[in-house]
Amino acid sequence: MEIKTIETHPFEDQNPGTSGLRKKVKTFQQPNYLENFVQSIFDSLDDIVDQKLVLGGDGRYFNRQAIQTIIKIAAANDFSELIIGQGGLLSTPAASNLIRKYKAYGGLVLSASHNPGGPEEDFGIKYNVSNGGPAPEKYTQAFYQRSKEIASYKIAEIPDIDLDTIGTQKIGALTISILDPVNDYAELMQTIFDFDLLKQSIGSGYITLKFDAMHAITGPYAKTILEEMLGAKPGSVINAVPLEDFGGGHPDPNLAHAEELAEAMFGPNAPTFGAASDGDGDRNMIMGSQIFVTPSDSLAILAANAPLIPGYAKGISGVARSMPTSQAVDRVAAQLNLPCFETPTGWKFFGNLLDAGKITLCGEESFGTGSDHVREKDGLWAVLFWLNLIARKRQSVADIVTEHWQRFGRDIYARHDYEAVATDIADGIVAYLREQLPTLPGKAFGDYIVQYADEFAYTDPVDGSVSKNQGIRIGFENGSRIVFRLSGTGTVGATLRIYLERYEPDSNLHDQDAQSALAPLIELAEKFCEIKKRTGRNGPTVIT
Ligand code: G6P
Ligand code: ZN
Repeated sequence: MEIKTIETHPFEDQNPGTSGLRKKVKTFQQPNYLENFVQSIFDSLDDIVDQKLVLGGDGRYFNRQAIQTIIKIAAANDFSELIIGQGGLLSTPAASNLIRKYKAYGGLVLSASHNPGGPEEDFGIKYNVSNGGPAPEKYTQAFYQRSKEIASYKIAEIPDIDLDTIGTQKIGALTISILDPVNDYAELMQTIFDFDLLKQSIGSGYITLKFDAMHAITGPYAKTILEEMLGAKPGSVINAVPLEDFGGGHPDPNLAHAEELAEAMFGPNAPTFGAASDGDGDRNMIMGSQIFVTPSDSLAILAANAPLIPGYAKGISGVARSMPTSQAVDRVAAQLNLPCFETPTGWKFFGNLLDAGKITLCGEESFGTGSDHVREKDGLWAVLFWLNLIARKRQSVADIVTEHWQRFGRDIYARHDYEAVATDIADGIVAYLREQLPTLPGKAFGDYIVQYADEFAYTDPVDGSVSKNQGIRIGFENGSRIVFRLSGTGTVGATLRIYLERYEPDSNLHDQDAQSALAPLIELAEKFCEIKKRTGRNGPTVIT
């Protein structure tokens, strides 16, 4: 195989965000753009010669083309084996599993997660390390540094690879293994959940379900596992065929974007259980008949009930949540005497805690939940966890949630997003918030007395690394919180996220609408950050 060295010039904008490098497809289509970034990754890694690399993506526009390019660069950089999902497809959690199972050096996952796809939309690439998890910051910073200096990349002169035929191909010293993207993942799920009980509960009609794959990667996974293996009625999985543009939609599982599902679940004759996942299959939204479960509550409920699931029957070692996620799981941890960690936003921060066995379950308000079975959040895993719980407890989703609140109290929660805000306005808001921080503690705003006001910084308890500027927190004496953060995953302008949380211990007051219950905090948030005033907008772009 002939290897060519191609001269190139650095691009200035290859700084990975919360979850890899995410840009418009058009940006990735610039000559050498993808090549530069992939070579920058390989240049930053030690000893990649003769190593295995896992490769796959969520099937969005540019996926196949990017995979062909990456194969050639990986071949030129002397990897010995590439493990690729058939059709170039792998969900993020399935990729994480393959890296672990086949002891790969790492993996490249091509996805912009829940962002829209298509020629005018987004593409992304993220690198996962040998534990199967997203590359920690020291890696992503090294990739960025390298991308600013890169002068050439190596590429093998080989024809495009057939990605659609399962089996092994040899090109010179390089082995290319094309695997069924679902098999290994489905096998892993069977080691965690009670498939016999699930088959019985679904087969008998005790559980009826609807899963919205949003024309994204979980379609084939959900069809195989929910319909073929567990016997859900054909058609229970909707929007099941992955499309390059996700059918023109936002593959983001929330009430705004999974419209068809939300309508069915709040409609008459709703199924017992509803769920959706995102572009690359790591997010989940959980619903029951007439109820939506917030991701923060979902994490708390899974933690409280984990021993009912075969994979966690021995109990869990601890839990973690990202800082803006509600404190519902903290209450479970306190009652059950479990260690509980608060990390910055981004799944990569859970990796060390999981590797060290300090936690078993973790989750984020951004519709991510997972455990130590892989090192990514895992949408279908969360769905199976809930199905297994319903089957074991013989309770509806609504009853499971209500009972949980009765036992632990309810953290009423909402997130308000202001998308595509001009960067200078967003920076101005952050500066304004920072200025106020020292003056706030002790101040009373009606019933709300500020207990602390700070900018979140995290010291990793395993490797001691410090991450600063991870969001602004204002906590009140009554347990309420407002958190402000700029999104790390947007591709247009800045997105300001405002996270609002109020603790309600009284079970007579649990049944209330979150937006009205949070009204005083919403007003206070505006007072602190002036987003409406500074942008002239009336309200958030999206509420979740
Ligand atoms: C991705 C990451 C998550 C993170 C989320 C936050 O989905 O995988 O771990 O919570 O982005 O995104 P944001 O836009 O709030 O930075
Ligand atoms: Zn995702």
